Amino acid sequence: MQKRNVGFELSVYDSLDELSEEDQLLMNAAVEARKNAYAPYSNFKVGAAVLMSTGEIVIGSNQENASYPSGLCAERVAVFQAGALYPGIPITAIAISASSQNYKVNRPAAPCGNCRQSIAEYEQKQEGTIRLLMMGEIGQVYNCNAIAELLPLGFDNSYL
Ligand code: THU
Repeated sequence: MQKRNVGFELSVYDSLDELSEEDQLLMNAAVEARKNAYAPYSNFKVGAAVLMSTGEIVIGSNQENASYPSGLCAERVAVFQAGALYPGIPITAIAISASSQNYKVNRPAAPCGNCRQSIAEYEQKQEGTIRLLMMGEIGQVYNCNAIAELLPLGFDNSYL
């Protein structure tokens, strides 16, 4: 028997100001996108901004539904839109920003399991990593260098 470490290194920034200008711009696009969230059931609004290798930014926000599972997270709205608009163009990074009407979200929100799986598919398709920036409404920002790191031992098409 051997033990294998499948953990990863997270970069933690104390505030948005510590990020590069390009990353601040991407996170600000996610904050803007958040305003178009349709979240009457959870009151939890999420914005996502996808940076393409060409420099284009594609945004998304969570869109809820009275039939709860029919809604979709911000990350998947944005990533699917990026795939639909720019097929074949690699995704460089995704910024995520979360807020709530019930309290001040003061820590980063990481993508849910379904979103990790969906983004991982794009990472594999483009054969290149997708960097993730995560933030609440205020406070620290997390940087993760690849979505696969957030989904250790993930299932992918190499099994099919
Ligand atoms: N949500 C996202 O959009 N992204 C996440 O990473 C976590 C959760 C949405 C789904 C739902 O509309 C609301 O937040 C509460 O779960």
